[in-house]
Amino acid sequence: MNKTWWKESVVYQIYPISFLDTNGDGMGDLRGITAKLDYLKDLGVDVIWMCPINQSPNHDNGYDISDYQAIMKEFGMMDDFDQLLQEAHARGLKIMMDLVLNHTSDEHPWFIESRASKDNPKRDFYIWRQGKNGGPPNNWESYFSGSVWEYDAATDEYYLHLYSKHQPDLNWENPNVVNCMHEMVEWWLKKGVDGFRFDAIAHIAKAVGLPSGENPNSLPTVRAYELFSNLDKVHTLLNNLYKEVLFHYDIMTVGETSGIGPEQALSYVGETRGELNMVFQFEHMQLDAVSGGSGKWNVRPWNLLELKKVISSWQTVLHEQGWNANYWCNHDQPRPVSRFGDDQKYRVESAKMLATFIHMLEGTPYIYQGEEIGMTNIAFQSVDDYRDVETLNFYKDQMSEGVPEETIMQVIRKKSRDNARTPMQWSNNKEAGFTQGKPWIKVNSNYNVINVEDALQDPDSILHYYKNLIALRKEHEVIVYGKYELLLSEDREIYVYTRTLEDACLLVILNFFGKEPELTLPQHLNLDSKELLISNYPVNGEDDLCQTIRLCPYESRVYMLKA
Ligand code: GLC
Ligand code: CA
Repeated sequence: MNKTWWKESVVYQIYPISFLDTNGDGMGDLRGITAKLDYLKDLGVDVIWMCPINQSPNHDNGYDISDYQAIMKEFGMMDDFDQLLQEAHARGLKIMMDLVLNHTSDEHPWFIESRASKDNPKRDFYIWRQGKNGGPPNNWESYFSGSVWEYDAATDEYYLHLYSKHQPDLNWENPNVVNCMHEMVEWWLKKGVDGFRFDAIAHIAKAVGLPSGENPNSLPTVRAYELFSNLDKVHTLLNNLYKEVLFHYDIMTVGETSGIGPEQALSYVGETRGELNMVFQFEHMQLDAVSGGSGKWNVRPWNLLELKKVISSWQTVLHEQGWNANYWCNHDQPRPVSRFGDDQKYRVESAKMLATFIHMLEGTPYIYQGEEIGMTNIAFQSVDDYRDVETLNFYKDQMSEGVPEETIMQVIRKKSRDNARTPMQWSNNKEAGFTQGKPWIKVNSNYNVINVEDALQDPDSILHYYKNLIALRKEHEVIVYGKYELLLSEDREIYVYTRTLEDACLLVILNFFGKEPELTLPQHLNLDSKELLISNYPVNGEDDLCQTIRLCPYESRVYMLKA
């Protein structure tokens, strides 16, 4: 297996608008990020991924870009970016940009021109079609509710938007679009950035002829994923981007690709493919949703056997063939401690256990801001406190279908993307130390208990535990490159796996629930020599690892054994 820096790294994801506000306007900014570089260095991470910081009218918090080569005015100026990059590099930290290549803002000059007239030279930068039978050109449903088509009276045609109507999809069939995108990516590379997360990259190609999806329930719209996701053409486009631009730089890349399993992922990340280094997969994020129907909002309980199955297959299929991106959270997902752990009685224990799971897997671990202090979901009473376009569209949609408001709100409290977007909790000062002004979205009221300042003081905090996990990765190669093997695959409460590299064998024991189950380890493990590397409970001496042990609620332990 090729050894490279991005396999050995830990990535920290920043959602800039909620990270730290330095000028009192209630929104985080680039200077806020620069001010916290020492904090991140001390945590031990290597790479910072920032969600989009480009000029944007902010209908989808920066994922609607109106100028790729300018900084969002709320976040600062290009000088602030240059300084951030320089200060990060001075500390040995790398900066990864989030690039939105699938669509722009409807305020991007290209789109303003494109919609002006049918013969405008920029018309074909986007996807325009005539309506059919007095309705939209096909029945595809947007990620953010409703049809993907928006009617534009000026030219009597519809344009396609997989996300909100303020995010028209670019037409990658047009070579001029491809050239503009390549030039823009190269422009950021020349500035010295160290990598990219390619947003919604699975969708840049659409099925030829834009056919309607199958419509079993005769609903007006259909989530026709397979017609706009992971098509062969996406690989051709990525391969060209790689050959012409990315290949010439020592960077790391990760693509957001929903809807694929590990075999399909190899066509993105296979070591000889020349496309991407990693992808974000979604299979483990869908374990608490009923498949099909209204997707993520259709909540069901998750179970450990399914998690084992999903993760084990990614670990096994990608081993020596590609590379995993491991995560529990990002700006689109609920807080993991509320979703997969226990955010009440065992918040600290379960947050540490979940962290252990991700950081001991093969692949690059991603930490989402606030995860390192165990931040929890938010439960706003009123829909008026939510800001996310996806959430608000869902609410409107459901209300218009007559679903009782409280039913809608319950789902929103579980699944809204705003769960992860409330301001970072720095201290127990006013507004969690995030801003001197009024935050753009309310702070989680638990900030007086959950905040960085307190966590730094407490040697047993989740934060210190993360530091230790990250430090271990730098010490033991087996954590980075070891081969994964699942043990006790049928156990419904305990997740046990090993990682093996030469004569080192890492044993990872995780109790995923609040009971105290007994664990009997398989005979073939060599328990003669064992060293406890980390645990979220005090464990007395080496003798504590016997063939059979009883685990505490949410207990996690990692041992170094001999293979
Ligand atoms: C990705 C982003 C999400 C955004 C969407 C549209 O899924 O992670 O935040 O809304 O793309 O750009
Ligand atoms: Ca600000």
